[in-house]
Amino acid sequence: MATDRRTAIPPFPPGFLWGVSTSAHQIEGAADLRDPSVWDEFTAEPGRVKDGSTAAVACDHYHRYREDVALLAGLGVDAYRFSVSWPRVNRPGGLDFYDRLVDELCAAGVRPVPTLFHWDLPAPLDWLRRDTAARFADHVSAVADRLGDRVSTWITLNEPAEHTLLGHALGVHAPGRRLLFDALPVAHHQLLAHGLAVRALRAAGAADVGIANSHGPTWPASGDGPDVEAADFYDLLLNRLFAEPVLLGAYPEGIGELMPGDVAADLEVISEPLDWYGINYYAPTKVGAPQGTDIEFGGVRMPAELPFTVREIEGRPVTDFGWPVVPEALTELLTTFKARYGDRLPPVIITENGCSYDGVDDQERIAYLDAHIRALHDAHTAGVDVRGYFVWSLLDNFEWAEGYARRFGLVHVDFTTQERTPKASYTWLREALRTRG
Ligand code: NOJ
Repeated sequence: MATDRRTAIPPFPPGFLWGVSTSAHQIEGAADLRDPSVWDEFTAEPGRVKDGSTAAVACDHYHRYREDVALLAGLGVDAYRFSVSWPRVNRPGGLDFYDRLVDELCAAGVRPVPTLFHWDLPAPLDWLRRDTAARFADHVSAVADRLGDRVSTWITLNEPAEHTLLGHALGVHAPGRRLLFDALPVAHHQLLAHGLAVRALRAAGAADVGIANSHGPTWPASGDGPDVEAADFYDLLLNRLFAEPVLLGAYPEGIGELMPGDVAADLEVISEPLDWYGINYYAPTKVGAPQGTDIEFGGVRMPAELPFTVREIEGRPVTDFGWPVVPEALTELLTTFKARYGDRLPPVIITENGCSYDGVDDQERIAYLDAHIRALHDAHTAGVDVRGYFVWSLLDNFEWAEGYARRFGLVHVDFTTQERTPKASYTWLREALRTRG
């Protein structure tokens, strides 16, 4: 990709929220001060995480949050999206850490935007069980009661699609199950948890509530019927299954019947109106007809019985993770959502966007972010109501099954010394934000 040093950010509407994102399990460390989560158990199993690492220390953010908030303040962002670790909150005094963090953010003039679930489920709990949704609502009430005097913007769940697909259908994330389509109840129970959380937050007086769903355009490998059908099905699983219950109060055709419980009543809860809809976007996916054999894609083994195969997107630069860089697919995604859902789509915030590249002089990250911010602006020009953009991530961190090998940060972390070094992209974003219209 061509190096791009432009710093001028195109003009977004007043009040547009610029931020960065992290999550608890990926940065906090201090594992001795939380109950075990499904991720602690998963990483303890040999062979689960590629570099054999765990998140026991990670970025040691639990002890270094002041330094990290100073980095946020220096960057000049309006908001910081972090997650609240449920297994930490389950320890007596566990909420004290978030209390301190929120105070520090408010003092620095950075809006705290907590995510209430980012995959680190307390180890005894299980999303196959319906009562996990009710327990989540209790957790949310406890957090909102404690932080709600200083927090107004909340995110219920992060990427229930990945947690279902990677964690429960394909088994490459915690809790490591390979249930394939028997994982569907995990999606339903998380969606129910989302709806119950919205109600709990409203009851606690929250005024600004959203979800962070991961979405991306699905491109058929060819115009042939079987490829188009496979791509439509993948689109249903990744995009529609998690958007439509929330936005329309309905599952896509054929799915509701496969879900457990009183689905119609649950959909009423799941579709509780939101103030905004969060989208995590990284790349589009090219999908073709099944090939009758298991395939390996991006380090994930996909069994032959899946009704699709994921294919390489050729002719595009890729990040160090191997993900294709396709900024205009962000515009396509947003205009497609607007066309599909019309007024049922609330204002959109990009709750994650970013890329993994090694090195501190990260010109590729600058080019990636610059191009995606412009693609977001194109969506705005095309009439999509976009209200914010959060970079993933502030710090290099524990990238789940990849361990510490994938670096998404604007700030480099030396995991031996915990030294933080702002990358070129940090300086670029700081200047871009300083001069924004
Ligand atoms: C999505 C997840 O929410 C986040 O935890 C992860 O690190 C990034 N994508 C990059 O893979």
